Amino acid sequence: MVLMLAAVSVFSSGCYYDVRQELYGTPCPPAKATYTESIEALVSSECSGCHSGTDPGGGLFLTNYTEISAAALEGQLVTRVMLPGSDPDAMPPGNPLDHCHLDLINAWVAAGAPLN
Ligand code: HEC
Repeated sequence: MVLMLAAVSVFSSGCYYDVRQELYGTPCPPAKATYTESIEALVSSECSGCHSGTDPGGGLFLTNYTEISAAALEGQLVTRVMLPGSDPDAMPPGNPLDHCHLDLINAWVAAGAPLN
């Protein structure tokens, strides 16, 4: 009986993951949707190269918390990263973030883009 229950639970968790992968793609590595643990490094590696220096893309700096949170709360940061890579307005251009990174950005912005 115990064995049968175990078999049933393995079977149903297998189904759960199948559905999840179908809907969202591969599972995401564990990560906290906070500025210091995720967003800072993500924007620094994916965005800051073009959004810094003497001629930042679109005149938009994304190099520190103040700039990034303002773009997230008042600007087009979320809109642009959510666009498909084929859209000329997509960010990064032609090279969209994966769904794990988008989930982190969305969760952080939904929390009010805090300095956490
Ligand atoms: C390869 C260079 C490059 C990368 C990488 C890049 N951008 Fe951009 N970005 C640009 C350029 C150039 C523009 C101006 C043209 C435009 O508006 O599409 C721009 C415009 C924008 C704008 C609109 C600016 C405004 O307010 O009018 C936002 C928001 C933006 N980028 C966010 C991001 C974010 C967030 C990332 C990282 C996930 C990113 N970008 C990565 C080059 C880049």
